Amino acid sequence: MNYNVMNSQTEEMLKAEPWYVAAFSNISALIMTTLPELNWAGFYLLKDGGLVVGPFQGKPACIHIAPGKGVCGTAIARNETILVPDVHQFPGHIACDSASESEIVIPIHEGEKIRAVLDIDSPVKGRFTDEDKAGLEALIRIIEERVKWGESI
Ligand code: SME
Repeated sequence: MNYNVMNSQTEEMLKAEPWYVAAFSNISALIMTTLPELNWAGFYLLKDGGLVVGPFQGKPACIHIAPGKGVCGTAIARNETILVPDVHQFPGHIACDSASESEIVIPIHEGEKIRAVLDIDSPVKGRFTDEDKAGLEALIRIIEERVKWGESI
């Protein structure tokens, strides 16, 4: 998978509209329609010390995730990308969609502060490679450079 095209499309979307609701809605749709073998792709936003579901594609998901809980909460507690080849082996994994077998979660910052995570699930074990991790971390750097976090347009 070559991430260059998807990541430049992401940059163009953010240039057209940097407001996080518009940008994250289209970016989750872009990821879902570009990457093969996914069942969920979207964002959780850090609000009042916990994660709340944001724009996504896939089945309805858990609304709130506490820091340190599940893969998403672990990613913000450790402030690093978490790549899970087999969700059944990850202690505390939160199963929003029972089809999920593997997952990757990447924190998104404003300056030093974590503002959100990108969460992607696959029905295939071991779906995400180091190449996916590098490509998606590059996508997150583009988001961090351009997104506007204001509450309204
Ligand atoms: N599996 C995640 C919960 C969110 S859903 O996958 C959309 C977790 O363990 O944090």
